[in-house]
Amino acid sequence: MNYRSVKEETYLPHKHISLLGKELYLYREVTSTNSIAKHMAKYGAGEGTIVMSRSQSSGRGRMQRHWSCPPGKGLLLSMILKPEISVQFVPQFTLLTAVVVAETIKTVTGFRAGIKWPNDIYINGKKVCGILAESSFSRAKIEYLIIGLGINVNLSIHHLPPDCQDTSTSLSLELGQNVSRIKLLKQFIISWDEHIRGFLKAGHPYLRSKWIENNVTLGQNVTVNKGNHSINGLALDISEKGGLIVRLSDGSLHEYLAEDVSLRKINK
Ligand code: BTN
Repeated sequence: MNYRSVKEETYLPHKHISLLGKELYLYREVTSTNSIAKHMAKYGAGEGTIVMSRSQSSGRGRMQRHWSCPPGKGLLLSMILKPEISVQFVPQFTLLTAVVVAETIKTVTGFRAGIKWPNDIYINGKKVCGILAESSFSRAKIEYLIIGLGINVNLSIHHLPPDCQDTSTSLSLELGQNVSRIKLLKQFIISWDEHIRGFLKAGHPYLRSKWIENNVTLGQNVTVNKGNHSINGLALDISEKGGLIVRLSDGSLHEYLAEDVSLRKINK
């Protein structure tokens, strides 16, 4: 349990630098970079500010899961966004981040990284990165959006929890050599700037085409988990809201949003 308040944490020793036009706050250890970024966003930090830490004591994943990574072995960062959108379009930004991460990994390592809907990144059938978006809104308008991502960069097999060793991996495990975290960070910023420009100019069609180019989900048989029952279907497309369009065995089409679906199998 960590009793330090997030406000106090923001004053922990850190470096504040500018990198490729982004304000960057680098910490050694925090509870969660998403928590720090939220606090900074609330008190005025601008669009594009990035909070990074070598380690986190209470890293968060989706569905209330814990995200763990040994110190200095991953790229753990959160970016502050303040888009003028209504809350229903938030999932588009997580899809865009998944595109950016997949392309970043491809550029830096040469691996084809694939997006498993909604926002996990896979290499060779194993998860290498997770994305967690958290937002604050008032009257359905976004005040700020925090995009947090954790890339497993230089983890060895024994760094992964035993129950994840068959399903997760790291860039170094796949590549057979360590990967520079700063190189990844720089490429992430470059790719982000490229794709956010494309998205703001051309909207959903741009996002959809980039997402499709990088995904390993569409055309796969998926299992939709809904409460205590599950439904099988074929993943067909993504919707404007960032949902997954699935065709069920009776031929009907359904849109599922992030909370409702997990995919059972990655074949590519
Ligand atoms: C998931 O796959 O469930 C999402 C994992 C997101 C983890 C990152 S690590 C940096 C940022 N800070 C957090 O507490 N979580 C995200």
